[in-house]
Amino acid sequence: MTRVFSGMQPSGEPHLGNLLGAWVNWVGMQDRADCIYCVVDLHAITSPNEHDPATLRQRTVDLATGMLAVGVDPERSVLFVQSHLHEHAECAWLLNCVTSFGELRKQPQFKEKSEGRESVSAGLFDYPVLQAADILLYHADEVPVGEDQRHHIELARDIGQRFNHRFGDVFALPKAIHPTAAARVMDLQDPTTKMSKSQSSEKGIVRVLDEAKKIEKKFKSAVTDSAADIRYDRDEKPGVSNLLEIFAAVTGREIDGLAAEYDGRGYGAFKGAVAEAVVERLRPVQERYAELTDDRGEVARVLERGAEKARAIAAPTLASAQEAMGLLPRGEA
Ligand code: AMP
Ligand code: TRP
Repeated sequence: MTRVFSGMQPSGEPHLGNLLGAWVNWVGMQDRADCIYCVVDLHAITSPNEHDPATLRQRTVDLATGMLAVGVDPERSVLFVQSHLHEHAECAWLLNCVTSFGELRKQPQFKEKSEGRESVSAGLFDYPVLQAADILLYHADEVPVGEDQRHHIELARDIGQRFNHRFGDVFALPKAIHPTAAARVMDLQDPTTKMSKSQSSEKGIVRVLDEAKKIEKKFKSAVTDSAADIRYDRDEKPGVSNLLEIFAAVTGREIDGLAAEYDGRGYGAFKGAVAEAVVERLRPVQERYAELTDDRGEVARVLERGAEKARAIAAPTLASAQEAMGLLPRGEA
């Protein structure tokens, strides 16, 4: 069976973009693949903005809770926290030694995140190698990620290939899977930029846990344009097009059908309908989230079982890599 691995950083409150762009995809993949999903807290501490330890801990639990609430099924898939397995950091060290300084220096995401900063951590520089370890430890075939992660997955593939070439076949070579373009959710206040936990203003970003009233308010004040027609045109009508995409994604309907139904009825009615559909889509997720929050023991148990299942795959892979590289097994001489 195809093995899928993906991870998300516990670095902010999840929003509609995370849900429609990543999680819906992750949940769907469970029907056809063996899926492993990870809260990558070791990646979150590489952020150039200093993190608060208590907040990180809370966000780690919250993110795992969110993944369960949208439908990551711990009976079929593995859900775990990256730092619960020492194998990730350890494997990253081995991979560091087959990765060149030059290929990390030119990673677009590193360049972007470090630009204009006086000091960045070695962890930020090394971020893609830890990500490669995440993926390679599980022999993942497919890695569902946003477009911005493409280079990281290519690098993981290059590192795995180089390792195999030098030391023998240890790692499977992964490929990135990108969700359809329709799953790109734009900021409600600036529909030409992605909805993002770091860049969007609170008005432009719909949180998975926002209450109905707040969601309605955010959609009512979404930026559109001065014409009144409702049609899909990313260049000329980015605001309306973004709303149509969100509408289609949360209802499972076609964009054309929705545009035809609402054209001529005014932006007010249209925005109200989109807001209502989003509220309906989020309702069961929020209900499940509240149940899980009431029973924190449940999330802890899921993560504990997830860590065990993950280790059963990762530990033998790490051992093979160590052995292939010539590290002396303990107890031998
Ligand atoms: P981030 O919250 O930026 O760490 O993103 C985690 C993942 O969520 C990304 O790799 C994407 O798959 C997805 N994602 C984040 N923002 C959006 C967005 N605005 N539209 C669609 N997908 C998104
Ligand atoms: N870098 C990814 C992101 O920001 C998160 C991540 C870490 C990841 N390890 C991974 C994604 C392994 C896929 C596979 O979105």
